[in-house]
Amino acid sequence: MNSKQQLYDQLAGQLSNLLSGERDLTANAANFSSLVFHSLPDLNWAGFYFAKDGDLVLGPFQGKPACVRIRIGQGVCGAGAAKGETVIVPDVHSFPGHIACDSASNSEIVVPMVKDSRLLGVLDLDSPVPSRFDQDDARGLEAMVKILLSSVNS
Ligand code: SME
Repeated sequence: MNSKQQLYDQLAGQLSNLLSGERDLTANAANFSSLVFHSLPDLNWAGFYFAKDGDLVLGPFQGKPACVRIRIGQGVCGAGAAKGETVIVPDVHSFPGHIACDSASNSEIVVPMVKDSRLLGVLDLDSPVPSRFDQDDARGLEAMVKILLSSVNS
């Protein structure tokens, strides 16, 4: 197991403890975004968009103010939501339709939140470092999103 995988293992344990005893999605997503933002290196934004009325609507996050509403299929978040698969973007400036919320962002990862075949939203992380995210991040964050989804009622 490499050091990044070890970090995600620790984070998954911390997240389980943090979310135990609460079943509200907003509260648990808020603590998730804080844990990730303050534990993973080289992030400038970490947070959630929730699926509402066919759009993605800004949820709990850490970082600078962000765009509030994104159409499914639009930008990196909308692409992850439409595909139902994790999207890793090494260079956001060459991603067609990328939505620039913070000009510091250079790379991005989006992990969809799917529970019982229903899209609940996406987790979105941005980094100022190009190619910041890889398959270890994808696997680690997908495992954390599973913990979040099993912690809530919705
Ligand atoms: N860059 C995202 C928009 C959300 S912000 O990064 C917080 C996108 O292209 O969907």
